[in-house]
Amino acid sequence: MRDHQPKIIHRKDYRPPDWLIPTVDLRFDLHEGETFVTATLQLQRNPAGSPREKHLRLDGVGLELLELSVNGMALEKDEYRLQPQCLWLRNAPDRFELRTRVRIHPERNKALEGLYRSGSMFCTQCEAEGFRHITYFLDRPDILSSYRTTVSADAARYPVLLSNGNDVARGEGGDGRHWVTWENPFPMPCYLFALVAGDLARIDDRFVTCSGRAVSLRIFTEHENIGRCDHAMDSLKRAMRWDEEVYGREYDLDIFMIVAVNDFNMGAMENKGLNIFNASCVLASPETATDAAFERIESIVAHEYFHNWSGNRVTCRDWFQLSLKEGFTVFRDQCFSADMGSAAVKRIADVSYLRTAQFAEDRGPLAHPVRPDSYMEISNFYTLTVYEKGAEVVRMLHAMLGAEDFRRGTDLYFERHDGQAVTCDDFVRALEDVSGRDLRQFRRWYSQSGTPVVHVELSHDAVGATCTLTLRQELPDSPGQPADEKQPQVIPVAVALLDARGAERGHAVLELTKRTQSWRFPGWPEPPVPSLLRGFSAPVRLEFDYTRAQLALLMAHDSDGFSRWEAGQRLALQALQRAIDDDEAGFLAGLDYWLDGAGATLAQALGDQPDDPAMLARLLSVPSAAALADAQEVIRPERIVAARERMLDAFAQRHAGLLESCLAGYAPSAPYRFTPEQTGRRALHNTCLDLLCRLGDERHAARALAQFRQADNMTDRLAALQTLVHSHWEQPAGAALAQFQDQWRHDPLVMDLWRSVQASSPRPGTLQRVRELLAEPGFDRLNPNRLRSLVGVFCNQNPRHFHAADGSGYGFLAEQVLQLDAENPQVAARLLGALASWERHEDPLRGQMQEQLERIAATPGLSRDVFDIVTRTLGRQEADG
Ligand code: TRP
Ligand code: ZN
Repeated sequence: MRDHQPKIIHRKDYRPPDWLIPTVDLRFDLHEGETFVTATLQLQRNPAGSPREKHLRLDGVGLELLELSVNGMALEKDEYRLQPQCLWLRNAPDRFELRTRVRIHPERNKALEGLYRSGSMFCTQCEAEGFRHITYFLDRPDILSSYRTTVSADAARYPVLLSNGNDVARGEGGDGRHWVTWENPFPMPCYLFALVAGDLARIDDRFVTCSGRAVSLRIFTEHENIGRCDHAMDSLKRAMRWDEEVYGREYDLDIFMIVAVNDFNMGAMENKGLNIFNASCVLASPETATDAAFERIESIVAHEYFHNWSGNRVTCRDWFQLSLKEGFTVFRDQCFSADMGSAAVKRIADVSYLRTAQFAEDRGPLAHPVRPDSYMEISNFYTLTVYEKGAEVVRMLHAMLGAEDFRRGTDLYFERHDGQAVTCDDFVRALEDVSGRDLRQFRRWYSQSGTPVVHVELSHDAVGATCTLTLRQELPDSPGQPADEKQPQVIPVAVALLDARGAERGHAVLELTKRTQSWRFPGWPEPPVPSLLRGFSAPVRLEFDYTRAQLALLMAHDSDGFSRWEAGQRLALQALQRAIDDDEAGFLAGLDYWLDGAGATLAQALGDQPDDPAMLARLLSVPSAAALADAQEVIRPERIVAARERMLDAFAQRHAGLLESCLAGYAPSAPYRFTPEQTGRRALHNTCLDLLCRLGDERHAARALAQFRQADNMTDRLAALQTLVHSHWEQPAGAALAQFQDQWRHDPLVMDLWRSVQASSPRPGTLQRVRELLAEPGFDRLNPNRLRSLVGVFCNQNPRHFHAADGSGYGFLAEQVLQLDAENPQVAARLLGALASWERHEDPLRGQMQEQLERIAATPGLSRDVFDIVTRTLGRQEADG
């Protein structure tokens, strides 16, 4: 337990700052054992602040104050007060220059927040509250300043010195040192500050903006990885063009830089003009990265670039507004990716992710609104709800207004608020102002947490030849928000009605605004089959009592790609649920039905005019364990895993012939290229291979091993490796693992894939293997990518072993969280999320999970990050005040 409870910050307590900081001048003197930061800040009273406040409080954590002066005069002892988290200036003037000089130790910083070392370079991560670890400042996003930053370091070790904006001056210092000065003319909050110093290689390119300005594009990385930056550069140029075409947003500075860093807590960071990326989200070559990584890189590069407008030029007033920039920017990157490939497949991927991960968050103890009302540690609110549900909220606005009004609304938003720090409300208001729509009720999506359930009933009147759809919304209980205090939300439900032959007759978007509403459709002498929530038009659980025949009809005929896939998933889920409930006859009947559909899909793949192969691969996928868990009130991991195994085995046995033909028909026929067509073919091919390897036929294992050895790309190689390692073919699996290790042992990023394949293995002895890999000499457990490849994957992608009956998986997680918490609280807190669903399990698992949570909660000296998660998970954090 902590000796004192960290305090909770409330959204309603927001007050404008009492002082503003229009200009910031920073000087960094980087040395091996210490760094000096000199900050010269121009401060002035904020007319919107409180004039009665006489003292100025600056944030600062872990800083050794060496000098402190106001208007050039060193302060006397009684003119300031130093506390562990802040510096008070007594009776601060209305307008003054503050100079501080501090010593910090980036070389000891393992939390990867503030200024830290990654390998041989220096880099920063300031969002959300990292800047206070660098210098004394008003570390809040509504302080916007122009920055001038000078970085000085040893010229031989750190030839490249970077910061935000344009470089305006450089020179030599004594002792083999050099310096560079950067200037960012666009006022920005300090969370966007960035600095990089190191011996880095770079690739260069150029982008001419819509108004004809030339922008230099640079991607920096360690020398050995310079050959893996081209895909990120291509993605960047596509994103820049897309943002001009779709949102009318032009880049503003003369240079845009991306730096790949090995040690990074998250994916990437949108620092103004100098994006810093986790190396895993930039580096890709056909030999080292999978199609999934290529796709991820494209979308993350775009995401960070898009932040230049949605986040940087217009930023957040306070951290409760985080979804203002993240939800909107995720929506933007999703649409971008949809435009680069197959929109339906992209939508399926995004919805699967939302429904498994975000829905789970939204029904558990960590549920919170898209715009939270309070937080203890803001780092813990970079959540699926803020990002993914936030994106769905923007998507609904886009759908309700239509593309044209939405665009006029975002134009107004960017114009009205350029250079400001604003709220989610300001965003919605801009959309209201252009469209004339009243979005007051819609705003409940920002304030009410929990996933709404929409129950649908279809009634038919044969005499009047009409049918009626009745929709009823049900809002769940969630932390601090009992269901009976919730108000109905605006839920756009896209529907179409299909006749018995599968012909679509009419579609509409039903806007459900009351608890219950009905819509009548004339002209139906026979009852139609409803296609509901097309394209996943709202982030809700939709309940309708579909018959198998109706689902089969939708699977075969629905013109909406998402809905076709969804119908197949519902069929599979129904069957699997029967297996979980021990309804053997029900399972076999449902299975039969689903297998018929899968057979038809395979036949389609082999026919004259096959569908998009990526779509076909999606249609053939059996719902994930996480998707199954979402369908259940009480999660029974063992049964979920067993049911899936049965379905997969039955699939392989029933369709072995078709799978073989498909494997041959979709074999690689050209050298690797990252194109939607090839990516889809590989997905389909490898799905077939994986299923075939379930059979007892050695030929298939031999084929997988041959593919592993001969593939010209990592997608096919890793797929073959995973298939073997996760199958019962021990010998070829061992051979492939050994060969992979031999080939890639010097490449940590590629070896993360090798570790992940083993950590997610269903085979016996996996936890022991994970422990061995963690203990290997040279394994860097403080690197978040390394740790996630073992611990993160084991806890989140290995339901069989993580939920082992003896509780060993949970004990392992607790041990890892406690060990890491002393060094990197952000990552430790994130790992702990794997226990958030404890209450939905049954004993003994539930008790074992709880026991580990209690063990963590009882540990002295926890970080605020882990303390926050563990107390909320156990339901022991009351939002006071
Ligand atoms: N703003 C980043 C994004 O694009 C998120 C992020 C990167 C972050 N690093 C972080 C958030 C560290 C918190 C802590 O989504
Ligand atoms: Zn973001």
